[in-house]
Amino acid sequence: MAAIETFELTKHFESLVAVDRLDLAIDREIFGLLGPNGSGKTTTVKMLTTLLAPTEGDATICGHSVIGDPLAVREQISYVPQDMAVDPKLTGRENVIFFAKVYGVPRPREVADEALAMLDLAPRADDLVRTYSGGMRRRLELAQALVHDPAVLFLDEPTIGLDVAGRKRIWEHITALKDRGMTVFVTTHYMDEADQACDRIGIIDHGRVVATDTPVALKASVCRDIISIRADGSLPDELPGGVAFLGMTDGELRFEADRGDEAGFALSHVLTNAGMTVRSVSVRQPTLDDVFLALVGESDETEAFDDRRFRRMLRRR
Ligand SMILES: Nc1ncnc2c1ncn2[C@@H]1O[C@H](COP(=O)(O)OP(=O)(O)OP(=O)(O)O)[C@@H](O)[C@H]1O
Ligand SMILES: [Mg+2]
Repeated sequence: MAAIETFELTKHFESLVAVDRLDLAIDREIFGLLGPNGSGKTTTVKMLTTLLAPTEGDATICGHSVIGDPLAVREQISYVPQDMAVDPKLTGRENVIFFAKVYGVPRPREVADEALAMLDLAPRADDLVRTYSGGMRRRLELAQALVHDPAVLFLDEPTIGLDVAGRKRIWEHITALKDRGMTVFVTTHYMDEADQACDRIGIIDHGRVVATDTPVALKASVCRDIISIRADGSLPDELPGGVAFLGMTDGELRFEADRGDEAGFALSHVLTNAGMTVRSVSVRQPTLDDVFLALVGESDETEAFDDRRFRRMLRRR
């Protein structure tokens, strides 16, 4: 039995389909749900944590249905929302003890101290939370989430607003929790972090999961080498064999090809012959950003180039 399973999990808000027939099985891993703003990540997390009733379908947490047995689900989970409230007028320790008492945990003080130590907060445990940095607050929220020893942890954008070091530290703690056997379901907009930390990634767009796999497999399946070209003029219809146009990002034309170096050379030749002025050419291996752009495209407002051609190509594979 997987820690988290969803069965055509669906949420409608009137005519809007926020989450559309989600089928996932997640167990003892860090699972990252990535998607553009409004794609249904938080709605999914809210259904899995029993805060929102599904319109159709179901999900189980450790075998308990979120619809049929929400109380049993709540015993197994912790949820750290994006805008979690910690009381700034209490100390870190007081905040965590309060949580432990709410959960009816025996020996709340000891449990709180353990959680604070695990998140490296013991030295600041008696300071008021209003003196904490953003990173410390996030770690305090994680400490609170651990007091009842949940099997499954849900984190909605856990590193947003933190500096690079703070983000790295949060991911180290999340990885340590996974190593202790916890299942972690996390949403994030930071592709590089998801690539580093997540065992598997689901990409969601308009409520549909369009891909689920390991970061390595996603990168290998969706993209070949990426060629970025800055050039003026209009793109010719015929490109060199094996080169596919991906779209335009920040004024750069992006293409993919198997052997990027050779293809980049051939491509700049073809573009120049077609009357374009090529200003720069660069070639690199694909990142998760490329996977994301290939599957989801630019956000609707900034879509500069018609990437439907590329999407059709992907579907044909
Ligand atoms: N209570 C609600 N009533 C009506 N529509 C809602 C409600 N909650 C969410 N939505 C809509 O459902 C869609 C999915 O929203 P959701 O918050 O799940 O997106 P998200 O992927 O978490 O986005 P973000 O990355 O911005 O956090 C959006 O179109 C949103 O406007
Ligand atoms: Mg959200």
